[in-house]
Amino acid sequence: MCGIVGYIGPREAYPIIITGLKRQEYRGYDSTGVALINHHLQVYKKKGKVAELEESLIGKAVSAHIGIGHTRWATHGEPSDRNAHPHTSASGKLAMIHNGIIENYGQLKQELLNKGYKFSSETDTEVLLNFIEEIKNNNKCSLEEAIRIALKRVAGAYVILLLDADNPDTIIAARKGSPLVIGIGKGEHFLGSDATPMLEYTKEVVYVNDYEVAIVKADELILKNLGNERQTPYITKLDMELAAIEKGGYEHFMLKEIFEQPHTIYDCLRGRLDAKEGTITMKGVQDNIEQLTNASRIIIVACGTSWHAGLIAEYVIEELCRIPVEVEYASEFRYRNPIVNKGDVIIAISQSGETADTLVAIEKAKENGAIIFGIVNVVGSSIARISHAGAYTHAGPEIGVASTKAFTAQLVVLIMMALKIAKEKDTISEEYYSKLLFELEDVPEKVASLLKNADELKIIAKKYKNSNDALFLGRGYNFPVALEGALKLKEISYIHAEGYPAAEMKHGPIALVDEKLPVVFVATKDAYHAKIISNIQEIKARKGKVIAIISEGDEIIPSMADDVFAVPLADEIIAPIISVIPLQLLSYYMGVAKGCDVDKPRNLAKSVTVE
Ligand code: AGP
Ligand code: GLU
Repeated sequence: MCGIVGYIGPREAYPIIITGLKRQEYRGYDSTGVALINHHLQVYKKKGKVAELEESLIGKAVSAHIGIGHTRWATHGEPSDRNAHPHTSASGKLAMIHNGIIENYGQLKQELLNKGYKFSSETDTEVLLNFIEEIKNNNKCSLEEAIRIALKRVAGAYVILLLDADNPDTIIAARKGSPLVIGIGKGEHFLGSDATPMLEYTKEVVYVNDYEVAIVKADELILKNLGNERQTPYITKLDMELAAIEKGGYEHFMLKEIFEQPHTIYDCLRGRLDAKEGTITMKGVQDNIEQLTNASRIIIVACGTSWHAGLIAEYVIEELCRIPVEVEYASEFRYRNPIVNKGDVIIAISQSGETADTLVAIEKAKENGAIIFGIVNVVGSSIARISHAGAYTHAGPEIGVASTKAFTAQLVVLIMMALKIAKEKDTISEEYYSKLLFELEDVPEKVASLLKNADELKIIAKKYKNSNDALFLGRGYNFPVALEGALKLKEISYIHAEGYPAAEMKHGPIALVDEKLPVVFVATKDAYHAKIISNIQEIKARKGKVIAIISEGDEIIPSMADDVFAVPLADEIIAPIISVIPLQLLSYYMGVAKGCDVDKPRNLAKSVTVE
């Protein structure tokens, strides 16, 4: 996935690059590197996080006004010093950083090996760099021209940034598939995988499009397509403040983001929902209301946590709108031969808006004539831009690798969307519609109230932190919540966890139950309450340890469970927005109790821009 940063202008490049890389570590943190030009090309790189490279460079002469930096999520070659970016070309003149995968790197490498090239890393990046240099030397052309020729032969996804020792006033960048933002300052330019490295310097940015090459000088930005034709940069105003990407006194971003949920949910509802008036204003839905109400089918594509939001949406949309819904893992959808008909509606859900699998799934569905509705958090991201219509979740930057506030905001958007369609289709009664609108309005307050008791979960987490496994069970709307709870625990505390529909447990997973196994029940009050109580009994009969998330006022479950956490009562359609929050906290506290790096769990990255 990788984060890339670049700077050219009158300021010192190194501190801007290091700070920018720290803000982009959510994209990967296997190794870090920078390349600077000050009379000559200097490259510093190292396995490990940005702070480790920074530490190792104290006292080194890193003064320069042009530079690039990289934080890596390894795809080709283990995390190591030699596989770290920037890579340098055979001549030692070019340095390059890359985010993405060059799929035909094997073939290109063979061609270069035949010509006598030697490689010092196992990366696809070093191959592409030398391929570019080979073309430059062979064709006796400019670097810019060589890049265009090379990229026409490249299969895969990339953002690349290059420095040329012979041309110390230019950064050349190109993109296909992976994100690239260029910030425009006065006599200076900033480059990043996202806008965070440039926040304090400029609010004017250009999102570079696929197949564009950017020639970036301090006072000039030229965009060209691969056919060498000038493209007009489209300047967008950034709507993000520095405070939004800082920890604000919390120990971790994940905790900050969990605690932000009363506000983020409110922000997501604000300006859209008016319970008294009985209205939901969502332009993307309104503009496409005919296609949405007449859709013979809705297909939801997403990955990970966003896929869990999709599963809940399936239940909600089928219940309220009576439209058949299928929920697909984007990574599967893109490679099989799915039936997508003209007029089908695809809802793509993504926090980052950059997930490669989801992006390609959308492209595939688009080719078949489907309408794409994107539910995205990051404004201006690739998925937001390629969707026909959509709704932002307005959760603000989510930095912790584990998705928390983005998930609850996704649920809010999806439920509002379902309600709007149901109202239009007349598949919901006036009373229930109005009840749900008022309930949605109450969610921020209910979330704030449960967060006051977060310490109770800290105690529960300490009790179970040494478990090897855990089971998460729920029924109905709370079944995907159980899946999400299990995913969070795996990611953050490395405890093996499985989520199941509570009734499915007896078809296999129950064999795992013994006196050591914690079983987390998401058992808020709903139509299945009596059933889930029976499932709890089944676990207790086998001496399993039961942790139950219950509704306030439940008097039955506390007498059976080993530990309980109560949340405010809500309608079953709204309940997942609330019942997931104790599970986020439980994973967080378990991770912290085990000494894990909760904001940057091992092997993961926030934005998965590779397959
Ligand atoms: C969530 O905690 C995960 N880190 C991951 O499953 C994530 O939800 C998934 O990669 C999808 O990302 P997206 O929402 O940015 O598309
Ligand atoms: N393929 C490159 C590498 O392995 C970049 C990886 C990425 O963007 O995640 O170093």
